[in-house]
Amino acid sequence: MVSLIDPTPRRLHMTTSIDRPIDGSLDRLDYAEALQHLSEASTDHHFEAFKDIDWDAPEMQFPPDDERWILPASDPLSRHPWYVSLPRERQIAVGRHRLTALTKTGSQFEQLLLLGGTQFLMGLDNRNPEFRYFMHELTEETHHIQMFQEFTNRACPEVSGCPRWLLRLFPVVGHLGGLTPALFFAIILAGEEPIDHVQKNQLRGGGVHPLLDRICAIHMAEEARHIGFAHAWLREHAPQLGPVSRSMIGVLTPVVMRIGADAILVPSRADRKMMGMPRKVVRETFHRGPEAAKFRRDLFADVRACFDDIGLRTRGTRWAWRAMGVDGRSSRFRAEPAAASH
Ligand SMILES: [Fe+2]
Ligand SMILES: [Fe+2]
Repeated sequence: MVSLIDPTPRRLHMTTSIDRPIDGSLDRLDYAEALQHLSEASTDHHFEAFKDIDWDAPEMQFPPDDERWILPASDPLSRHPWYVSLPRERQIAVGRHRLTALTKTGSQFEQLLLLGGTQFLMGLDNRNPEFRYFMHELTEETHHIQMFQEFTNRACPEVSGCPRWLLRLFPVVGHLGGLTPALFFAIILAGEEPIDHVQKNQLRGGGVHPLLDRICAIHMAEEARHIGFAHAWLREHAPQLGPVSRSMIGVLTPVVMRIGADAILVPSRADRKMMGMPRKVVRETFHRGPEAAKFRRDLFADVRACFDDIGLRTRGTRWAWRAMGVDGRSSRFRAEPAAASH
């Protein structure tokens, strides 16, 4: 038996547990075995938003002058001169808003996953083992949505999260789960990889607020399975794609990676205004200069490795990765720390 994950609540307090190469081990299994392991892991180790988080514990509360909201070094905004020069209480308020906006956007993307995921499931034949595992995944997402939303309600209910124009497109994007599952799985990765990356870096850097740390640790533990499955699904099904689909998905994948990264990591207009952040701060932090480019590139090193392996990132499609600003070196193994891969 390959041990995929053992995220018992006690272990999740140890940030070292996040570095285990859980989902990478899937690559050594055949597909049916991998699905079986994933399903068993989800059956044995899963979390419930209102059972596994002690929401009302004293250390989980937010006093108004709580300095733990000051943005961690892993957030590029924390280094911008605008943020650095703010008075302490504004740094706390902006940090609280920013960290909650990331969480809220995560929950919106997970709702998209439910929308498209149920359509994907309806296209599966009886006895297809993908059904059981993916249903486990959707069940886990419902708890992620609950915990992200509860966190948002408590920490900063004023946030908006995802840009409005993109939210309006979600019902349409959900149809792709049934129409073009391969593109839909790329979209899943565009949502899951940036959130996972941010949460890992936050915990590797020592964490932020204990409530957010707890939520991130639970999320990362289950997300490792989800990301592992999306990679395994693409590896299994990419060889069956015809040439037109291969070209289409090869070109559209970097486009959806860019859209996903920007929607999740860049403050939306509504949140930027609420934080009192000048537009040029967003431009300088997330769109211009080598640091912003590296930050975005690093999010998708695992996706690039997967698409290299399945032959969808080729000489014919790399221009799109470059044009979207998500090209770069591929990771050597899943969840390789970014500093080591460049
Ligand atoms: Fe999730
Ligand atoms: Fe997920």
